[in-house]
Amino acid sequence: MAEFISIFSQLGYVLVPMHCLKGYTSSKKFLFFPIQSNHGCLKSYLYIARMKKVLVTGGAGYIGSHTVIELLNSGFIPVIVDDFSNSDERILSGLEEILGFSPVLYRCDCTQMEEFRKIFQSELPDAVIHFAAFKAVGESTEQPVRYYRNNIDSLLNVLELMQEFNTRDLVFSSSCTVYGQPDELPVRETSPQKTATSPYGYSKQVCERILEDFCFANKNIRCALLRYFNPIGAHPSGLIGELPYGTPNNLVPFITQTAAGIREKLTIYGNDYSTPDGTCIRDYIHVCDLANAHVKALEWLDSHPQTCEAFNLGQGRGNSVKEVVDTFVKINQTPVQAVMGPRRPGDVEQVWADVSKALEELNWKTTRTLEDALKDAWRWEKHLAQ
Ligand code: UFG
Repeated sequence: MAEFISIFSQLGYVLVPMHCLKGYTSSKKFLFFPIQSNHGCLKSYLYIARMKKVLVTGGAGYIGSHTVIELLNSGFIPVIVDDFSNSDERILSGLEEILGFSPVLYRCDCTQMEEFRKIFQSELPDAVIHFAAFKAVGESTEQPVRYYRNNIDSLLNVLELMQEFNTRDLVFSSSCTVYGQPDELPVRETSPQKTATSPYGYSKQVCERILEDFCFANKNIRCALLRYFNPIGAHPSGLIGELPYGTPNNLVPFITQTAAGIREKLTIYGNDYSTPDGTCIRDYIHVCDLANAHVKALEWLDSHPQTCEAFNLGQGRGNSVKEVVDTFVKINQTPVQAVMGPRRPGDVEQVWADVSKALEELNWKTTRTLEDALKDAWRWEKHLAQ
């Protein structure tokens, strides 16, 4: 069997167990192969498919791992490249349990050009989704050079390798942080970008600019810049989710860790903002909805030559910090000790997205609520405690 699989994968085909096929729609791409068990009776079906191969840098990370599942469910072949600087084996075993097999994985830091080139050479991807980047806003203000070096070098390497190996499509992981505190809400893709409030935010602005220049100079490249608002939640299985190292910076992991007794209390950073309850407002989006947008973006690129387009990805509405905490407590029937504290430096007061472009162009919108996300985040936290 192993030999059989290896021959097909060398030819650019993939075998997918039938029970993992939920969501596969393009059935004409598949052949059906009945597989015999050792006892001669029909055991399962495997599908043989020639699908688009997508290199997913940072594919073992929070958004990357959920995207790997969406890609497989939509008929793409994901190939993970990750240096595990912000992930670990638990995500791999969770992925394996959800999928029923282990996706192809390379342990590689994308700033290491020679190693990275070998991956392109052996995989010859059709597309890249580039997640691999450092992302902690606070940390970036303490280690700006490390952030610029990693986030910009890895993108430059991706682009050079795409040119070298004729890879055409790129989906780039950007952030609503490129807007700063916008003058108008909801914020649109065309809204003016304010000065970034952190090196992390500036690295995303610079990367977007690099991509615009790159697409201008290389007319065969197609690129989608996905501006994430605040991704939260976890896979509904509770088997993969966000894995913060040390004390979490982000709100939802801090809430779940406080509910689990790992943290004594949550500090709400500021209740004197000009918002209805005085706490900051963000546009929280379920990570599975966000993952699905990457598939939609790849499909969209297929019919849009010569493009470099930005898309906002959020719910299209804002919730305050206090609303998130209250919703968590209510939906999970679990107390969270919360105290008011001073403002956190660098926080914008309020931001939420106009998501009409993603709906019109990508035919994408969110299907999960804040409640769903907070339930799933709690399920994941409890799984981690097992
Ligand atoms: N917050 C608290 N207490 C905490 C943690 C957060 O009150 O312990 C508040 C923050 O002050 C903020 C809100 O919860 O008002 C959300 O904070 P997060 O840290 O979860 O998210 P941010 O909006 O600061 O940042 C996130 C991502 C960034 C991304 C940015 C874009 O972490 O990567 O959204 O706005 F760039």
